Amino acid sequence: MAEINWDELKAAAIKAMRSSYSPYSHFPVGAAALVDDGRIVSGCNVENASYGVGLCAECGLVSNLAMTGGGKLVAFYCVDGAENILMPCGRCRQLLFEFSQEGMLLQTTTGIKTIEQVLPDAFGPRDLETGFNAQERN
Ligand code: THU
Repeated sequence: MAEINWDELKAAAIKAMRSSYSPYSHFPVGAAALVDDGRIVSGCNVENASYGVGLCAECGLVSNLAMTGGGKLVAFYCVDGAENILMPCGRCRQLLFEFSQEGMLLQTTTGIKTIEQVLPDAFGPRDLETGFNAQERN
Protein backbone atom coordinates (compact mmCIF):
# COMPACT_ATOMS: atom_id res chain seq x y z
CA MET A 1 0.00 0.00 0.00
CA ALA A 2 1.46 3.36 -1.07
CA GLU A 3 2.10 5.87 1.72
CA ILE A 4 -0.12 8.97 1.40
CA ASN A 5 1.76 12.26 1.32
CA TRP A 6 -1.08 14.82 1.31
CA ASP A 7 1.31 17.78 0.86
CA GLU A 8 2.75 16.21 -2.27
CA LEU A 9 -0.74 15.49 -3.62
CA LYS A 10 -1.87 19.05 -2.91
CA ALA A 11 1.22 20.41 -4.72
CA ALA A 12 0.45 18.19 -7.73
CA ALA A 13 -3.17 19.39 -7.76
CA ILE A 14 -2.06 23.05 -7.64
CA LYS A 15 0.43 22.44 -10.45
CA ALA A 16 -2.33 20.84 -12.54
CA MET A 17 -4.72 23.71 -11.74
CA ARG A 18 -2.19 26.15 -13.22
CA SER A 19 -2.59 24.37 -16.59
CA SER A 20 -6.37 24.80 -16.55
CA TYR A 21 -8.09 26.07 -19.69
CA SER A 22 -11.12 27.82 -18.22
CA PRO A 23 -11.75 31.04 -20.20
CA TYR A 24 -15.54 30.72 -19.82
CA SER A 25 -16.06 29.97 -16.13
CA HIS A 26 -12.80 31.59 -14.97
CA PHE A 27 -12.82 28.77 -12.43
CA PRO A 28 -9.58 26.80 -12.72
CA VAL A 29 -9.52 23.35 -11.15
CA GLY A 30 -6.68 20.90 -10.57
CA ALA A 31 -6.96 17.32 -9.33
CA ALA A 32 -4.29 14.84 -8.29
CA ALA A 33 -4.41 11.30 -7.02
CA LEU A 34 -2.05 8.73 -5.62
CA VAL A 35 -2.11 5.39 -7.44
CA ASP A 36 -1.62 2.05 -5.65
CA ASP A 37 1.84 1.65 -7.22
CA GLY A 38 2.99 4.98 -5.76
CA ARG A 39 2.79 7.21 -8.81
CA ILE A 40 0.77 10.43 -8.91
CA VAL A 41 -1.68 11.25 -11.70
CA SER A 42 -3.31 14.61 -12.26
CA GLY A 43 -5.60 16.64 -14.49
CA CYS A 44 -7.05 20.11 -15.02
CA ASN A 45 -10.39 21.30 -16.35
CA VAL A 46 -10.53 22.01 -20.08
CA GLU A 47 -13.49 24.07 -21.23
CA ASN A 48 -15.01 24.56 -24.67
CA ALA A 49 -16.87 27.27 -26.61
CA SER A 50 -19.69 24.72 -26.64
CA TYR A 51 -20.01 25.08 -22.87
CA GLY A 52 -21.55 21.69 -22.10
CA VAL A 53 -18.65 19.89 -23.72
CA GLY A 54 -16.14 21.15 -21.14
CA LEU A 55 -14.12 18.56 -19.28
CA CYS A 56 -13.68 18.50 -15.52
CA ALA A 57 -10.20 18.11 -14.05
CA GLU A 58 -11.08 14.55 -12.98
CA CYS A 59 -11.65 13.57 -16.64
CA GLY A 60 -8.06 14.45 -17.38
CA LEU A 61 -6.93 12.64 -14.26
CA VAL A 62 -8.55 9.31 -15.15
CA SER A 63 -7.24 9.63 -18.71
CA ASN A 64 -3.75 10.26 -17.31
CA LEU A 65 -4.22 7.15 -15.12
CA ALA A 66 -5.06 4.94 -18.09
CA MET A 67 -2.30 6.42 -20.26
CA THR A 68 0.41 5.87 -17.66
CA GLY A 69 -0.29 2.26 -16.80
CA GLY A 70 -3.67 2.06 -15.04
CA GLY A 71 -4.03 0.92 -11.46
CA LYS A 72 -6.29 1.88 -8.58
CA LEU A 73 -6.63 5.30 -6.96
CA VAL A 74 -5.75 5.39 -3.27
CA ALA A 75 -6.00 9.08 -2.35
CA PHE A 76 -7.40 12.18 -4.06
CA TYR A 77 -6.98 15.95 -3.75
CA CYS A 78 -8.77 18.65 -5.77
CA VAL A 79 -8.21 22.42 -5.64
CA ASP A 80 -9.84 25.54 -7.02
CA GLY A 81 -8.06 28.64 -8.29
CA ALA A 82 -7.48 29.89 -4.75
CA GLU A 83 -5.77 26.56 -3.94
CA ASN A 84 -8.61 25.63 -1.61
CA ILE A 85 -9.98 22.09 -1.41
CA LEU A 86 -12.78 21.51 -3.91
CA MET A 87 -15.33 18.72 -3.77
CA PRO A 88 -15.55 16.70 -6.97
CA CYS A 89 -18.90 17.16 -8.72
CA GLY A 90 -21.36 14.24 -8.80
CA ARG A 91 -20.30 13.02 -12.23
CA CYS A 92 -16.67 13.12 -11.21
CA ARG A 93 -17.34 11.09 -8.06
CA GLN A 94 -18.62 8.40 -10.42
CA LEU A 95 -15.51 8.75 -12.62
CA LEU A 96 -13.29 8.34 -9.56
CA PHE A 97 -15.32 5.43 -8.17
CA GLU A 98 -14.65 3.35 -11.26
CA PHE A 99 -10.90 3.45 -10.60
CA SER A 100 -10.86 3.71 -6.81
CA GLN A 101 -9.39 1.19 -4.47
CA GLU A 102 -11.96 0.29 -1.79
CA GLY A 103 -11.76 2.98 0.88
CA MET A 104 -10.01 5.52 -1.35
CA LEU A 105 -9.50 8.69 0.69
CA LEU A 106 -10.40 12.22 -0.40
CA GLN A 107 -9.60 15.54 1.17
CA THR A 108 -12.99 17.23 1.46
CA THR A 109 -14.15 20.57 2.79
CA THR A 110 -15.22 18.69 5.93
CA GLY A 111 -12.16 16.51 6.45
CA ILE A 112 -10.80 13.28 5.02
CA LYS A 113 -13.54 10.94 3.77
CA THR A 114 -13.77 7.73 1.78
CA ILE A 115 -15.13 7.48 -1.76
CA GLU A 116 -17.96 5.34 -0.35
CA GLN A 117 -18.94 8.19 1.98
CA VAL A 118 -19.11 10.78 -0.79
CA LEU A 119 -20.82 8.42 -3.26
CA PRO A 120 -23.03 6.13 -1.17
CA ASP A 121 -24.74 3.11 -2.73
CA ALA A 122 -22.69 3.68 -5.86
CA PHE A 123 -23.33 1.98 -9.16
CA GLY A 124 -20.10 0.34 -10.27
CA PRO A 125 -18.50 -2.28 -12.51
CA ARG A 126 -19.77 -5.18 -10.38
CA ASP A 127 -23.40 -4.13 -10.90
CA LEU A 128 -23.01 -4.89 -14.60
CA GLU A 129 -22.46 -8.55 -13.75
CA THR A 130 -25.91 -9.03 -12.24
CA GLY A 131 -28.35 -7.18 -14.52
CA PHE A 132 -30.59 -8.31 -17.36
CA ASN A 133 -27.86 -7.89 -19.97
CA ALA A 134 -25.46 -10.05 -17.97
CA GLN A 135 -28.13 -12.81 -17.79
CA GLU A 136 -28.50 -12.59 -21.56
CA ARG A 137 -24.77 -13.21 -22.00
CA ASN A 138 -24.77 -16.28 -19.75
N1 THU B 1 -15.00 21.45 -12.36
C1 THU B 1 -14.06 20.47 -12.30
O1 THU B 1 -13.08 20.49 -13.06
N2 THU B 1 -14.22 19.47 -11.41
C2 THU B 1 -15.24 19.40 -10.50
O2 THU B 1 -15.36 18.41 -9.80
C3 THU B 1 -16.16 20.54 -10.35
C4 THU B 1 -16.18 21.49 -11.50
C5 THU B 1 -14.86 22.51 -13.36
C6 THU B 1 -15.82 22.42 -14.51
C7 THU B 1 -15.82 23.85 -15.03
O3 THU B 1 -14.74 23.98 -15.95
C8 THU B 1 -15.52 24.68 -13.80
O4 THU B 1 -15.07 23.79 -12.81
C9 THU B 1 -16.73 25.45 -13.26
O5 THU B 1 -17.79 24.59 -13.04
